[in-house]
Amino acid sequence: MKTMFITGASSGIGAATAKRAVEAGYNVALAARSKDKLDGLVEELGTEQALAVSCDVTDFASQQQAAKAAMERFGSIDVAFANAGVGASGSGTAGGKPEEWDKMVRTNVLGVIYTVKATHEAVIAARGHFLITSSGAGRKIIPGSVYGATKWAMSGYGANLREEMRDKGVKVTLIEPGMVNTPFFDDPKPDAMAADDVARAVIYAISQPENVLAGEIWVEPLNR
Ligand SMILES: NC(=O)c1ccc[n+]([C@@H]2O[C@H](COP(=O)([O-])OP(=O)(O)OC[C@H]3O[C@@H](n4cnc5c(N)ncnc54)[C@H](OP(=O)(O)O)[C@@H]3O)[C@@H](O)[C@H]2O)c1
Repeated sequence: MKTMFITGASSGIGAATAKRAVEAGYNVALAARSKDKLDGLVEELGTEQALAVSCDVTDFASQQQAAKAAMERFGSIDVAFANAGVGASGSGTAGGKPEEWDKMVRTNVLGVIYTVKATHEAVIAARGHFLITSSGAGRKIIPGSVYGATKWAMSGYGANLREEMRDKGVKVTLIEPGMVNTPFFDDPKPDAMAADDVARAVIYAISQPENVLAGEIWVEPLNR
């Protein structure tokens, strides 16, 4: 049985992906800071297939611990989904807040690179798959968006990682959602996609034949 390691699994896209992955026959290691939410999800998914691993993605040692716990429990990490991310309330550089940029860069950029580093030996051994949640904001110009810049960084990192991993038989997919109705936003976004819409894109990427690489999946609401 294959195992998916998911960061940002306590909510939104990560939690929806965990549900779809279990349905597709994967074990899931669920990483995030909110242990209570992860425990609730494990209860829902069943302890046979799901494990909660508390983890702060901005702390490399914490990610190493989480990956180790997943390996000890399930014996492999075939898919690592680096999905944890945060936004900012400030607008642009003029109106932005340096403390929010610090958190965003450490979570959205370093956190993703740490996930890949912490899991790479297992994923390479499995000839597996990395997925990174970038964003439509990492593919288009959004005036002033510092958040978007962290996602552009991930579009570049993911593309470079894809070439680093290609001859190891490891796939790298960038998931690039437009607006998704999740707790990422303070207010509901009824016209946005649902988290499950993105989860299905993740399952699509990992369900391709061995010789087929879905390198980037940009999904967005039709009526944006
Ligand atoms: N919603 C959108 O419109 C949208 C569009 C494009 C891309 N995205 C991206 O999609 C990803 C998931 O976002 P979402 O919409 O599902 O939002 P969400 O519901 O707010 O989920 C964010 C997840 O990231 C985790 N997280 C945040 N900081 C963390 C840290 N330091 N260590 C560990 N986990 C951390 C949170 O868990 P804890 O708080 O429990 O740690 C939570 O599970 C993010 O990378 C986001 O940038 C979202």
